[in-house]
Amino acid sequence: MAQVLRSVAAFRAACDQARVRGLGFVPTMGALHEGHLALVTEAKRHAPIVAASIFVNPTQFGPNEDFARYPRDLEADLAKLDAVGADLLFAPDVAEMYPAGEQTRVNVPLVAAPLCGRFRPGHFEGVATVVTKLLAIVGPCTAVFGRKDYQQLAVIRRLVIDLRLPTTVIGVPTVRDLDGLAKSSRNLYLSPVQRARALAIPRSLAQAQAAFASGERNAATLARVARVQVEAAADDVDYVEVVDADSLSPLMDNKIDDRALIAIACHVGQTRLIDNVVLGEDAPVIVG
Ligand code: PAJ
Repeated sequence: MAQVLRSVAAFRAACDQARVRGLGFVPTMGALHEGHLALVTEAKRHAPIVAASIFVNPTQFGPNEDFARYPRDLEADLAKLDAVGADLLFAPDVAEMYPAGEQTRVNVPLVAAPLCGRFRPGHFEGVATVVTKLLAIVGPCTAVFGRKDYQQLAVIRRLVIDLRLPTTVIGVPTVRDLDGLAKSSRNLYLSPVQRARALAIPRSLAQAQAAFASGERNAATLARVARVQVEAAADDVDYVEVVDADSLSPLMDNKIDDRALIAIACHVGQTRLIDNVVLGEDAPVIVG
C-alpha cells in the first residue's frame, strides 16, 4: 500500500529516506488512467522506490478553464497506484503548495511561447512553477513525464537544465485507447458522440504519418492534410502545426529533414484535447 503524505515536510523526509535506494517521481493531477500508470511503470524500471504526486494545480488553469470541475477521486487513484507498485503518494492541498504570501513564479519564455502557449496564457508558467516546487521537494530523482504533453515536457527539460536541478528527466510515448484516442483525464467529459468525433485527431495524425512515410517532407502540406480532418470534426481548432521537434519553432522553408513534430489542439464541445506525434520517430498511430 502506497504511503500517502499530505505535507511538504513529511514527503521530503520520505523522499530523503528512499533516495539511498534510488528514487523515481511521477507528478500528476490525478484522475489516473493507463497513461499515468505507464509513467509509474517506467519509473519503476529506473528506481526501486517510486513516488507519485496528485495535485490539481490552480495556477496552470485559466479563468475560464476546468479547474473547479477537474475530476478528483483520490481513493480510486490510490488503488490504481497500488496496482502498479507506487511506494509514495504526495497529495498536498493548495495552501501547502502555495503558502500564504506566495509570489514566486518560474518562466521558460521561449519554449512556452508557441503552440499551446498562444492559446493558454500563463499555463506553462503555472506548470513550470509547480513542477519546480515538486522537484525541489523531492530532491535528486528520475522524473518521468508523458510525451502526450510534448510542449510541457520541453518546458520541463529546459527548466531542469537552466535551474541546475538534480533531476533526470524521462519522456514516455503516448498511451492510446484501442480506438486510437490518446488517454486523457479530460476524455471523461466527452459524450459517446463527441468521443467518436474526437477520433479525427488520431486519424489525422495517422494520415500525416502515412504521407511522411511516402516521402512528403513539406511541413505546410502535412499540416494542411491533418487540419482538414480536424476542422471537419472539432467545434474549434486552436492549432494544427508541424514544427521543429526540438525548438518547437517553424521549420525553415517548411522543409523537414529527418523528423518534425505535428501537434494538434482543438475543442470538442467544451473539452479541449491535444495530441501529437514526432514524424520520423514515433510508432504509427493505429486508429480502430
Ligand atoms: P496530468 O495531465 O495529470 O499528467 C500527468 C503526466 O501524465 C504528464 O507527464 C502527462 O504527459 C502524462 N500523460 C497524460 N496522458 C498520457 C498518455 N495518454 N500517455 C502518456 N502519458 C500521459 O501534466 C500534468 O498532469 C500537469 O501539468 C503536471 C505535470 C502534473 C503539473 O501540474
